[in-house]
Amino acid sequence: MKDKLKILEEKKTQALVGGGQQRIDAQHAKGKLTARERIHFLMDEGSFQEMGMLVMHRSTNFGLDKQQFLGDGVVTGYGTIDGRLVYVYAQDFTVMGGSLAEAHAEKICKIMDMAMKNGAPIIGLNDSGGARIQEGVVSLGGYADIFYRNTRASGVVPQLSAIMGPCAGGAVYSPALTDFIMMVENTSYMFVTGPNVVKTVTHEEVTAEELGGASTHASKSGVAHFIYANEVELIKNLKKLLSYMPQNCEEEAPSLSYKATDERRDVLNCIIPDSASQPYDIHEVINGIIDADTFHEVHRDYAENIVCGFARLGGRSIGIVSNQPAFLAGVLDNHASNKAARFVRFCDAFNIPLLVLEDVPGFLPGTDQEWNGIINNGAKLLYAFSEATVPRITVITRKAYGGAYDVMNSKHIGADLNYAWPTAEIAVMGAKGAAEIIFRKDIKEAKDPQAKWQEKEAEYAELFAHPYNAAARGYVDEVIEPAKTREKLIKAFKMLENKVDNLPKKKHGNIPL
Ligand code: HXC
Repeated sequence: MKDKLKILEEKKTQALVGGGQQRIDAQHAKGKLTARERIHFLMDEGSFQEMGMLVMHRSTNFGLDKQQFLGDGVVTGYGTIDGRLVYVYAQDFTVMGGSLAEAHAEKICKIMDMAMKNGAPIIGLNDSGGARIQEGVVSLGGYADIFYRNTRASGVVPQLSAIMGPCAGGAVYSPALTDFIMMVENTSYMFVTGPNVVKTVTHEEVTAEELGGASTHASKSGVAHFIYANEVELIKNLKKLLSYMPQNCEEEAPSLSYKATDERRDVLNCIIPDSASQPYDIHEVINGIIDADTFHEVHRDYAENIVCGFARLGGRSIGIVSNQPAFLAGVLDNHASNKAARFVRFCDAFNIPLLVLEDVPGFLPGTDQEWNGIINNGAKLLYAFSEATVPRITVITRKAYGGAYDVMNSKHIGADLNYAWPTAEIAVMGAKGAAEIIFRKDIKEAKDPQAKWQEKEAEYAELFAHPYNAAARGYVDEVIEPAKTREKLIKAFKMLENKVDNLPKKKHGNIPL
């Protein structure tokens, strides 16, 4: 027995060093942790149970039979985060650059299958040079096996991807199929083809950082939902993000205990400026409503005209979508529509109630928007809200103009409760533009066209720049004092907690992609 235990111990020791101390040192020198260190920081202490530690590849191509590393470049298993079961894989860059081939892919697929059967989130810590070149088509097959499972698991269990090194070629598509992508600044990259191929094909000179670094994907492409200065920060925030989500689509997100106090927030009475054209920061409204310090913003640097994120209200997890008057006046455009639609669908898939804060002047006009598909993209947001069956509440803080009024979770597309602040302006468009169109002739023929325009603008504003027409028709359930918003919302979400709403029987809908 002693001898046998010794053999086992030797194998485990060998597996634990991955590609060897020299490569571990090289990894550290780049400011990166190893796969095992990442798992150590991520999981509850002592909870990680590794599976497949002794797996080896079966390839003999290009001398690979002489390059065997136990585990084949990926650490896989299960354990807990804050006491909740998760499945995790961490690619080990010290073993053939974390490259993915047959055995490596089989290990990832195995834990994905288990996560699906047992209803728990899948977390991927990616650090890989992509398909293992020596193994050829089996590497490509391995990727596709993972893509297939990512798609099957979508909407069943949450899938989170941390990018902690290179992520090239088809390797980007597994993260792209998951719910959230997090990147580390300066040490992680994602691109379909790297700078060299770009130069050959398009003659563009671009650095890896510019092409697919964390800030590029967080601000330009929107591929990354979160970026962090280092790996430890990323891991800390990954755990936080997970705390807002349920284990799977059949469950609710965990609630924190909450002791009701005086829910009135007078600060909310002082945020909306006197002039409708003056901006304010919607974060002030969000923070005035939610439990203190609980806003976890998604896509903070992308399409800043719409703000999306998770928060807690009375201890419960909610998703917030709000126009941001402080950026492009909170207008809806292509990027904002896509960003919000995806967020709404995540919340709906995982039973997270939605709160919409609305102050929107409409859709952004122009050739850039039209040629880039604002019709389709705006329709995505319309579709996402319309099909969402979770509790949905809207608060109109100021402008609710035009088609954007309909899109932003209006009563007509299934919102459960719609509130308006007395500062709300619910109309087809702003008074200035409306007066110009409907009184064009009067203005043109007036002795003083400017004065006439102002007179007509005031007339239109008096008729429409308030919430009372909408309230009279029941499109708005209640006009509320801003300071009472938090109290109203806590009660309303409580009232809606057992909401049941089923979509008509169908295979699946056809969202305008
Ligand atoms: C096999 C690989 C590898 C790969 C890296 N290595 N990528 N081995 N297959 N794809 C090995 C290296 O040989 C080296 O081995 C070790 O990993 C570390 O690599 P370095 O190049 O020394 O590291 P670094 O300078 O940090 O550069 C990292 C890198 C670079 C940017 C990832 O290695 C690289 O460009 N790799 C190739 C990327 C690529 O083109 N992948 C295929 C994409 S196509 P030693 O023994 O020296 O430590 C694809 C198709 C998927 O993925 C399609 C699915 C649909």
